[in-house]
Amino acid sequence: MARALLALLWALRALPVLAKRPNILFLMTDSMDGRVLDPEAVQSQAVELPFLRDFFAKQGTNFVRSYANSPQCVPSRSSMCTGRRTDQIEAWSNEKGLAASEDGTLDKTCIYFYGTNQCAAWAKMQNYSETIFSGLQRLGYGVKLYGKVDIGAGLMNDPKVRETVSASGWHQGANLGIVTRSADIRRPTKQAPLSLTSDTQDHVHPEDWRTVDRCQEWIQALPPAEQNTEPFFLYCSLNIPHPPFQTNATWLAKVKEEKIPLPDWPPGFPQEWHPYDSYMSISKHVEEMNYTSEEILRVRKTYYAMCAEADFLLNRVWESLTHKGYGLDNTFVVYVSDHGEMNMEHRQVWKNSMYEGSSRVPFAIAGPGVAKGRRVTQLTSLVDVLPTLLDMGQETDWERHADLAGKSVLLLAGAPSLAPPQLVVTPDEDRVVVSQYHSNMGNTGSFMVRKGPWKYIRFGHTLSTFSPEKYTPLLFNVDEDPGEAENLAGQHSQILGQLEVELRALFDPEDVDRRVKSEDFRLYHRFFGSLDQRRLRNKLERAYAGFDEGDFRKLQLWAKELASWLAPELLVV
Ligand SMILES: *[C@@H]1O[C@H](CO)[C@@H](O)[C@H](O)[C@H]1NC(C)=O
Ligand SMILES: *[C@@H]1O[C@H](CO)[C@@H](O)[C@H](O)[C@H]1NC(C)=O
Ligand SMILES: *[C@@H]1O[C@H](CO)[C@@H](O)[C@H](O)[C@H]1NC(C)=O
Repeated sequence: MARALLALLWALRALPVLAKRPNILFLMTDSMDGRVLDPEAVQSQAVELPFLRDFFAKQGTNFVRSYANSPQCVPSRSSMCTGRRTDQIEAWSNEKGLAASEDGTLDKTCIYFYGTNQCAAWAKMQNYSETIFSGLQRLGYGVKLYGKVDIGAGLMNDPKVRETVSASGWHQGANLGIVTRSADIRRPTKQAPLSLTSDTQDHVHPEDWRTVDRCQEWIQALPPAEQNTEPFFLYCSLNIPHPPFQTNATWLAKVKEEKIPLPDWPPGFPQEWHPYDSYMSISKHVEEMNYTSEEILRVRKTYYAMCAEADFLLNRVWESLTHKGYGLDNTFVVYVSDHGEMNMEHRQVWKNSMYEGSSRVPFAIAGPGVAKGRRVTQLTSLVDVLPTLLDMGQETDWERHADLAGKSVLLLAGAPSLAPPQLVVTPDEDRVVVSQYHSNMGNTGSFMVRKGPWKYIRFGHTLSTFSPEKYTPLLFNVDEDPGEAENLAGQHSQILGQLEVELRALFDPEDVDRRVKSEDFRLYHRFFGSLDQRRLRNKLERAYAGFDEGDFRKLQLWAKELASWLAPELLVV
């Protein structure tokens, strides 16, 4: 039925489109656990979110089963902004975003850290044709960016953009903790969560308040809605609720402490845990055995308070727009986050993990034609954002997007879609959503497949440390076990096999794991390989708290194994 309707719409696409393209207000946060935005998830009971949750729940369509395609800032955003999976775009880590703009101009920050040859080689491989920003510009949108973008892509080559946009997509350049992560050095690489938690800050996130001020000033300068001739795409993107966990009494008052679910950590840490998970907990410095419930709750409520602050700030942007006469009849409002936050679940903080807290993201839209009060349970992911935005912008030249990883979700939201049928998600489709992670706090590659109620997680086995016998797959029934407490991999080998086939239909995970590890080792060789032992040891001791002689032997064995299967010429760019 839906297919037939789509085919009809597609056949009619040559008809003149609406006289004026609708405006798009794109709101973004960093580290927002998607479950907090789903009115039916228990996490959503913990905090008042009158805008991000309640407004979208009533006035828009909420895609409550949305996932990050790689749960970390730069990989996730690079994937979302180009509509490509991480294995396609190879923005593996926070130290490697998009090396050039779509016209091939190299990113200056990339050159600063890695040099022209390396950036040119990456740009050649990445070879993407458009981002959501340039795509909408092509469709006639006035595009304005404020706040956190974090993809590279030459955006910040422009000093004017640099003034209003933060986070370059390359963070600190080559990072020892990332390139040596597969040496499996089990030491903290981060500060412990409690040392990052404070609830007595008087004015906590001034940079996000400034971002919102700037968005509001820009809106102030717009013509009133009825006089506006050029459609706009306004991107307003906050850093909160990203840790550190800092808040104050104003925001804590929005949190319902008694409704915060306390996580139940499985016993036997670390010996009886999956070695991937125990590595991540140790790396995140949540390995101490003596956390009290009060301490865990202190972190958790501080996080939810930061969610309330983000809600307040983004609501201000929307209100400014409505004061100028803009509304859901002429403007789409879109809200997403790049990934979630573990917030002490599974003995973890930050993201990086395929568990729900980290990989689930909010994705909600409201605007012309969009169903109000609709909760969509079809699986979606952030690679669907680019086709959806182009569809909102009435794209007709879909041929240029032949290799997109995602599809437009407008039809799911009940709104007219001009995308060709193969680029439109339908309600009855048995959809597969994939995520992958290849960076710090994960010692080897991890790959997630979501389909129906199932979540399958498997690991990259390229190096001998990560043998299939030790790094066994995980399988959860997320519908029945939303806390992902019971690994069903041993009981459902057939489903496991089917989900592995789904993954391999898209790419070979072992090949991807090998590509990432080659690149990590090449960067290690280039940036750290010529250091004398004493200086290298010094740097390692700074990257890994408590690094010792045994760890150093591990690193040497790791380097030997990688060197044995990488030809020397592969070590040079
Ligand atoms: C880059 O992609 C375009 C199509 O988007 C293609 O025509 C071109 O050959 C590609 N270039 C490289 C170097 O792969
Ligand atoms: C908390 O911080 C906000 C800014 O984030 C500020 O407006 C408010 O006054 C502060 N509240 C307290 C109790 O310090
Ligand atoms: C918990 O253990 C760590 C060492 O593992 C210690 O530094 C810390 O003081 C302990 N905290 C409490 C509250 O006992």
